[in-house]
Amino acid sequence: MPGPWPRRPRLVVGNWKMNRTAPEGAALAGQLVGLLSAGRPCEIAVCPPFPALDAVGVPLRGSGVHLGAQDLHPEPGGAFTGEVAGPMLAAVGCRFVIVGHSERRHGIGEDDAVVALKARAARRDGLVPIVCVGETLSEREGGLTTDVLVRQVRAAFQGLSEAEARAGVIAYEPVWAIGTGKVASVEQARDAHRVIRATLDHVVAPGIGQSVAVLYGGSVSDRNAVDLFAEPEVDGALVGGASLEAAGFWRICAAARSG
Ligand code: PGA
Repeated sequence: MPGPWPRRPRLVVGNWKMNRTAPEGAALAGQLVGLLSAGRPCEIAVCPPFPALDAVGVPLRGSGVHLGAQDLHPEPGGAFTGEVAGPMLAAVGCRFVIVGHSERRHGIGEDDAVVALKARAARRDGLVPIVCVGETLSEREGGLTTDVLVRQVRAAFQGLSEAEARAGVIAYEPVWAIGTGKVASVEQARDAHRVIRATLDHVVAPGIGQSVAVLYGGSVSDRNAVDLFAEPEVDGALVGGASLEAAGFWRICAAARSG
């Protein structure tokens, strides 16, 4: 299991989703590394599609930018056609893996139990899970945001030791903000992050919420990143569309510069 950070990291993660072939991804990663030659402003990871992981890992080597994947199967191997196992991701150089992204929860039907299994599998296989949680628009409008966050965090973290909980990252991603250009307000993000931390305190151990990194995701851009990162509850971002262009993604990373 990867060890916990000494303190909550500033972390910006690019989720490329189903974009970029291997050569395109390597070129994008190369551009990003070039922009970072003057120094790395925060912890950074990029999560290309599976077929591009190996190629993207080449320019990242020695750059301090981490490689991540977008999903994994709960089992470490076996007869699961079309799936990818954690040890395969670790072997190709991944440090992170996204689990429970809303495009998988709502688009593919992954439920809380599957997401919990995947988060545990990630730790077992030496990867840091980035567990995505967040409410839909109708859940927010129905006053259910807190209920949804508590349920999703509880399912993914119940029964974990403090060290296991700390060796994970949570991304608060309101579904209505993903890919819509409608970013959550700083207050909405802050309130959600507080609910997430209070839930961790409740289901893992008192005080643990303060030592787990909680990212915000959903229409983060170089225009809104400075305001989001000024909020102490926001430890960084999970960035979709805006991570597909190196200069803009670098500006988001620069905005997260840790003091
Ligand atoms: P977006 O996606 O930045 O394009 O809204 C974020 C995500 O889905 O992780």
